[in-house]
Amino acid sequence: MKRVLVVTWSQSGQLTEIVRSLTAPLEADSQVEVVWEVLQPQPAFPFPWTVAQFCDAFPEAFQEIPCALAPLVVDPAAPFDLVILAYQVWYLSPSTPVSAFLQSPEARRLLAGRPVVTVIGCRNMWLLAQEKVKARLGDLGARLAGNVVLADRAGNLTGVVTIAYWMLTGRKGRFLGCFPPPGIRPEDIRGAGRFGQMIRAALAAGPFALDPDHLAAADAAPVVPAYIIFEKRIAKVFGLWSRFIRARGGPGDPARRRRVRAFFYYLLTAIVVLAPLASLAGRLVLRLGRERIAAEVAYFQGLTGERPGSSKPEAR
Ligand SMILES: Cc1cc2nc3c(=O)[nH]c(=O)nc-3n(C[C@H](O)[C@H](O)[C@H](O)COP(=O)(O)O)c2cc1C
Repeated sequence: MKRVLVVTWSQSGQLTEIVRSLTAPLEADSQVEVVWEVLQPQPAFPFPWTVAQFCDAFPEAFQEIPCALAPLVVDPAAPFDLVILAYQVWYLSPSTPVSAFLQSPEARRLLAGRPVVTVIGCRNMWLLAQEKVKARLGDLGARLAGNVVLADRAGNLTGVVTIAYWMLTGRKGRFLGCFPPPGIRPEDIRGAGRFGQMIRAALAAGPFALDPDHLAAADAAPVVPAYIIFEKRIAKVFGLWSRFIRARGGPGDPARRRRVRAFFYYLLTAIVVLAPLASLAGRLVLRLGRERIAAEVAYFQGLTGERPGSSKPEAR
């Protein structure tokens, strides 16, 4: 009997659907026991969000400052053959509840020495979040055995509009009747079962290992080359903004409200003006540095272990 621990948390239920689809082949296997640990941030994060709440969550998410979590249900001393860590991205970082888990003493006991498959459900920008998670897993002594990413397929600007509508109203329908539905396509969610099949086969085969080439062939972590450059640029500015806001206090502190509002206007400008400019500049850079970009794409797909030109993650 193989034992798999799933650690997850979802606001809208989207990530839960992804993990259910992915783990369905494991749940159906009498030789596999799947144990779910659903994180419980305390207090709960709001959903739907107000604009102010959405922006106020930024500094702590970006700086990976943990929130409080309810005690885990799972016994941290319990043995597992694999841990599936499913997370959503918040501001180019793992969401705050997942950051909190990764920094908890229980995570060390549950993850140290174990293979971990990360599963990401996000809008479209996950590269630097995964770098942060990799660094945390490294600190915990866990072994990253694979990464599966499901993202929105809408274009960047369309995706921003539809996700804003979803996050701020809680409705997953078509904004104004003409935008595509927000979030990850149902057929992509259903398709996550193919990764569960791979995981089941790897569990049965002995010491857990997934073939990076098989994962890449199954499009486990599709990389949009322009975002490699785009995310790096945004992260630099996010670093400045997060420190600027936190200099006035912690989450919800009225003393930081004006700075949080200023950040909102920055975000709007960045999305409407800077994003199209940056993607244009990104395309130019892609033309100029094809080889380096190809190496970076292979790195983010999990095909190579070391990031080109650096020996450690750049995310922090
Ligand atoms: C505060 C916040 C920040 C987010 N930032 C990002 C981001 O930087 N990149 C991204 O691809 N998606 C981002 N998203 C979208 C989430 O990754 C995720 O797709 C969405 O919140 C649905 O997740 P759920 O399963 O928790 O409902 C953000 C969502 C929230 C609420």
